[in-house]
Amino acid sequence: MGTVLFPQHVIARKRDGAELDRAEIAAFVRGSVDGSWADYQLSALLMAIFLRGMTPRETAFLTEAMLKSGVVADLSAVRAPKADKHSTGGVGDKVSLHLAPMVAACGVAVPMISGRGLGHTGGTLDKLEAIPGFRVGLSIAEYRRQLKKIGLALIGQTAELAPADRKLYALRDVTATVECIPLICASILSKKLAEGIDVLVLDVKYGRGAFMKDKAKARELAVVITTVARAMGKPTTAVMTAMEEPLGHAVGNALEVAESVECLKGLGARDLMEVTFAVGEQMLLLAGAAKGAADARAMLKRSISSGAALGKFREMVAAQGGDVRVADDPGRLPRARLRTALGSPRSGFVTDVDAMGVAFAALHLGAGRRRAEDKVDHAVGVDHLVKVGDPVRAGDALCRIHAKSAGAAKEAAGMLLKAITVGSERREPSRLVDEVIGA
Ligand code: URA
Repeated sequence: MGTVLFPQHVIARKRDGAELDRAEIAAFVRGSVDGSWADYQLSALLMAIFLRGMTPRETAFLTEAMLKSGVVADLSAVRAPKADKHSTGGVGDKVSLHLAPMVAACGVAVPMISGRGLGHTGGTLDKLEAIPGFRVGLSIAEYRRQLKKIGLALIGQTAELAPADRKLYALRDVTATVECIPLICASILSKKLAEGIDVLVLDVKYGRGAFMKDKAKARELAVVITTVARAMGKPTTAVMTAMEEPLGHAVGNALEVAESVECLKGLGARDLMEVTFAVGEQMLLLAGAAKGAADARAMLKRSISSGAALGKFREMVAAQGGDVRVADDPGRLPRARLRTALGSPRSGFVTDVDAMGVAFAALHLGAGRRRAEDKVDHAVGVDHLVKVGDPVRAGDALCRIHAKSAGAAKEAAGMLLKAITVGSERREPSRLVDEVIGA
């Protein structure tokens, strides 16, 4: 029989700055799933970790224990290399919706398990559910079958994958222990590695619209995650990208699906495609499907120009029960009752679009959640949003607001007018893609 590890002893050791060993960390994670640790003990250790930090060894032990708290999908029957991406979350970040089919069209399978939006950032699942009939709740067996057949599946978290994260994340959310690099690393990686992937690419965002505002902190997270993932045998790189203005021209679930379809038709916004290609290149390189970055980019561009990526998107929507006609007719997506243009108060150039301000306007319209149990309104949000550097004349549309009522539209308009600045001097849009960590 192994040594009994009392929660209070493990908590006291971390509180006093000791390095926990694998058995202590495993006991904590096991305790979160089997109930042998009380919530107040789990929370106390989370706070001790928050305050004391974790060494790279501890972070790796925590990630491993959280991964092993559930099953790891066995995708050995899928012959193609398997790559996924994860974004730490941004405003208007719909990259997964079109990049996954692009990469799958290049011969690399994409097993993607995503989350819902919380706070100011949107979630891939909410966007997918804007497609009438689309099922995100596949079982692991269905997920595996679909991946084998079409090389692409975008689904929601299942109860069997990394259950410790569900429990610990819920406690972190209410104990002010979310913003802690080792805990974030273990949370993200345990879920992603449970998907059965070979390689992973992270889009680590920094800036006012990101979860990590500070670039140095975001970089630290990228270094920790790529190091731990590699140590666990999964080649991983992280693309650092700025999140100051929303990505692309749309924020809101159905509106973002429509924008992703435009990307698959070769009509994607410059900034959105810049991030798409930067992350996609890394996926193809790590998966061994491209000879170099230029080759990877050419393959991704060809997936669009040949129509293969749009074809993969259609296959995925059909396989998951969605209305495939949305690919040709965005009018089949949910539509808000009211659509109204927001006029510019003056002539000049767009000098700022504050991602956070736009996110809160979209949240106010009902596109996101204030609390985890809230339902999102798939139809509402903003589109045709201007970008920094665009010239405008007084009265020109700065964006189009999609709302369920005139009152909501008016309030969102007030918020958007504060978020969008029109000045007299043209400002160049700032650089979006920074360095790649771990390449
Ligand atoms: N996203 C996650 O999945 N986990 C975290 O801890 C933070 C962001």
